[in-house]
Amino acid sequence: MNRNKEACHCKNVTYGMIEDAVQNGADTLQQVMDVTGAGKGCGKCKEFLEYLIRDIKEEQGDRP
Ligand code: FES
Repeated sequence: MNRNKEACHCKNVTYGMIEDAVQNGADTLQQVMDVTGAGKGCGKCKEFLEYLIRDIKEEQGDRP
């Protein structure tokens, strides 16, 4: 994963910031939004964020 790529353009949130949030226990889109601020602008990235979060969790083997 390219951690420097931007996942949410409105809030300048990168893939890496999403990854860190998930690794630190953010489990749902809402939690990731609250921790990173992603998705709180135009909202267009939200669907993408859900995919990204799922991918990250799969990569982690979905450990708690
Ligand atoms: S791109 Fe994420 S809120 Fe607009």
